[in-house]
Formats: sequence, structure tokens, C-alpha cells
Amino acid sequence: MVKLSLKYQQVLPFISADEISIFEREASLHLNNIYNRKGRGNDFLGWVDLPGSLDEDIITRMESDAKRLAEHSDVVVITGIGGSYLGARAVIEALKPAFENGPGPEIVYAGHHLDEQYHAQLLRYLESKDFSVIVISKSGTTTEPAVAFRLLRDKLEARYGKSAVAGRIIAITDASKGALKQLATEHSYPTYDIPDDVGGRYSVLTPVGLLPIAVAGVDIRELIRGAANMSAHLGENNSLMNNQAALYAVLRNILYNKGKTVEILTSYKPSLHYLTEWWKQLFGESEGKEGKGIFPAGVTFTTDLHSMGQYIQDGVRNLFETVIISGDSSGKIAIPEDPDDLDGLNYIAGESMAYVNSMAAKGTMMAHVEGGVPNIEIHIPGVKADTLGELIYFFEMSCAISGYILGVNPFDQPGVEAYKKNMFRLLGKPGS
Ligand code: PA5
Repeated sequence: MVKLSLKYQQVLPFISADEISIFEREASLHLNNIYNRKGRGNDFLGWVDLPGSLDEDIITRMESDAKRLAEHSDVVVITGIGGSYLGARAVIEALKPAFENGPGPEIVYAGHHLDEQYHAQLLRYLESKDFSVIVISKSGTTTEPAVAFRLLRDKLEARYGKSAVAGRIIAITDASKGALKQLATEHSYPTYDIPDDVGGRYSVLTPVGLLPIAVAGVDIRELIRGAANMSAHLGENNSLMNNQAALYAVLRNILYNKGKTVEILTSYKPSLHYLTEWWKQLFGESEGKEGKGIFPAGVTFTTDLHSMGQYIQDGVRNLFETVIISGDSSGKIAIPEDPDDLDGLNYIAGESMAYVNSMAAKGTMMAHVEGGVPNIEIHIPGVKADTLGELIYFFEMSCAISGYILGVNPFDQPGVEAYKKNMFRLLGKPGS
């Protein structure tokens, strides 16, 4: 039984049930292609079986490495970009307390851009901290994390001495090739392999995501359990109306074909900001090609109701929203009674803040649907490791099916090379 449920009543004013059922055959064809390793990009389908097939030895090793790093680090720097960092950050930020550090060491990020000021400030911050580095790159040649890792390695060596550094660095990369693999072998850094058949944006449930998440003190077994539940659930339900991932993929494509070319992932929890960033990368990099693809955008309400809310209500009508609605599992806050009632809030005194937030969500959905913006709803009972596991696997499967419906290879990213070519030429890289 999965905890996630997809609802599409707020899409029905825009599309008919018949338009959905037309996709019954096609959806099951794509599901079969995914499970039978056929279809475009089929050498990158390793993620499909991941949650159930993770090696117990690797899980145990990650837990013990995480404990070791946590014990001797105030700060752990996760160094990677795109699929090599967003999944970890999505889960860590969703589960960590908003203000206090812990339960694990402080987690910070490097190599996810080339901003000098940020990295200079990071190096300065690390001066007074005991720190370790997890460097992640499947290709092992990506410029952003490679630059940051060079800086961090220098800092570690200067601080702890060359011989002690291997205990403070873990590299996650290809099993045999790439500069990072070579560097790790030469310097005896411990490594974890990224499976050949799992692409960056589908790699959260490999050491790419799991090791940093474990270091942050999250129970990775719960995350894996949630993903495995969703994997089993989707695997058992091959028919469109019973397969929530296929249904989501179909709904998106029907809306896209009706001119809804922008999808906004919406949540009412700022802690889900990086889940949205991960989702944007997953869908944007998987579908945006060959002149096609839904543009994935993200907002956090109610904050963005005071900015993007105006556009969503009244701007170009090429939008639909996918709204994550989460039960509130954390500390209850009731709104206090005030005898003066100068702010006029006594009418909700005694109500929880979560209730007010949920009414904001209901009211917003009604307004947006009335304004011509279809709303797909994804309900979860709360933001926990297992529900995040479900969400991750659900989105991965939906994205694969959606890419196939769109007629693209959801597992490549040829467009990402264009900026690199120019940058390398401008920088004078030999051979560019
Ligand atoms: O999803 C992807 O494949 C990309 O976003 C990569 O993860 C990103 O470009 C980083 O690549 P690498 O892990 O090779 O450094």
C-alpha cells in the first residue's frame, strides 16, 4: 500500500475522461518497454529496479562511512552538480530542521556553480571547522565540481596534511573511467561506484544520493523502503487508471497538447524547495529536446502567491499546476486569541497554522482552476523519509513514461554540451 495519491478532479474541467482513456494502450506499451528494457535510452534503465536491488553490503558501508564522517566533521561539503547533487539536497533540505543544525553534521554544497564569491566565502567558513568532502561526478570530468574539488582538496591538505586527507574525502564516480576515478585511485580515496545504467538525474537511490543523505542523519533505509513500496505498487498495476505514474504522465501530455506548455510544481512547504529543483531537473533535462517538452517551473506558496500568484491567476494561459499537498506531521501551532483583536484574526483563533495553510491551498486551487489553470494534485500524509522515497520513484517512473509519450529519449541530455563547447573554447582548453 502506498501513501501517495494522485487526484485529477481539478483537471476535468479542461479534459474529458475519454481523452484520458485513449491513452490506455499506449501507457501500457511504454510501461512494458520500461520493464522489459526496450525503448529509447534502454541502457539507462538501471533505476527501475534500484530500490529493491540495492546491495545490503553497500547500504551498511554507507551507514558506517556516514557515521565516521559525522564523527570527525563539523561540516561535510557535498561537491557535485545537476543529478550529482540535487537529489541529495532535495531529501536533506526536506527533512532537516529549518533553524537548528543536526542530527548529523552541517551539510554545505560546492561545485554546483562557478561563483567565485560563494566559494571564497565557503573556504573562509571552513577555516574554523573540521570538515570532510564528498565529491560526486559520474563522468568525473565536469568542470564545476572539478574546480571546487581542487580548491577543497588544497584546503584539506594544507589543514590536515597530505597523508590524513584520504580519511576526509569520499569520491562517488564511474567504476572504471574518468579523471575523478583516476585521482581517487592515485590518492587512495575511498570510492563508491555509480552504476553504468543509471543517469545522473535518476541516481538519488544510488550512493550519489544515499551517502550524503545518510551523512545528514536521515534513515536511508526508510527512504529506500518508500521507493521500493512505490516501485512494487507501480509494477503490480499495469493499467492506466490504476497506475498513478502513468496517469500523471498521460495527464501532463494531454494538457501539453492543449497548449499548456508550462507546468508549475507547487507546494505549501518551503522545505520542499529543493525537491522542486530536483523535479525541475528531472523533467527539464529528460523532456526538453527536439523542439519539444513541457517547461518545468516551481513555486512555494503562500510565499509566491505574493509574487508569481498574479501571473498564474491572470497571465498567459499556457500553464498548469501540479500541487503537492502534504499533511502536516510536525509541531502544532494554534493561533492565539487576542482580547484587542486589532489585526482581526480572532475568527481563526484556536485553529492550527496547518489548517490555515490548507485553506489557503484550497482557496488557491479554486481560484487558479477558475482562472484557467488545471491543477493535478499529489497528496502525501507528511514529509518523511518514506514518503520522499515514494515521491522520488513516482516522479522517475512518470518522467520516463512521459518522455516516451512525448516521443523523446528521456535518458540523454545532448543539449547540455552546447555551453560547454563554447566555454572550453573561450577558456582555451587544449583541443577545444
Ligand atoms: O542528470 C544528468 O545526467 C546531469 O545533470 C549530470 O548529473 C550533471 O551534468 C553532472 O554530471 P557528472 O555527474 O558527470 O559530473
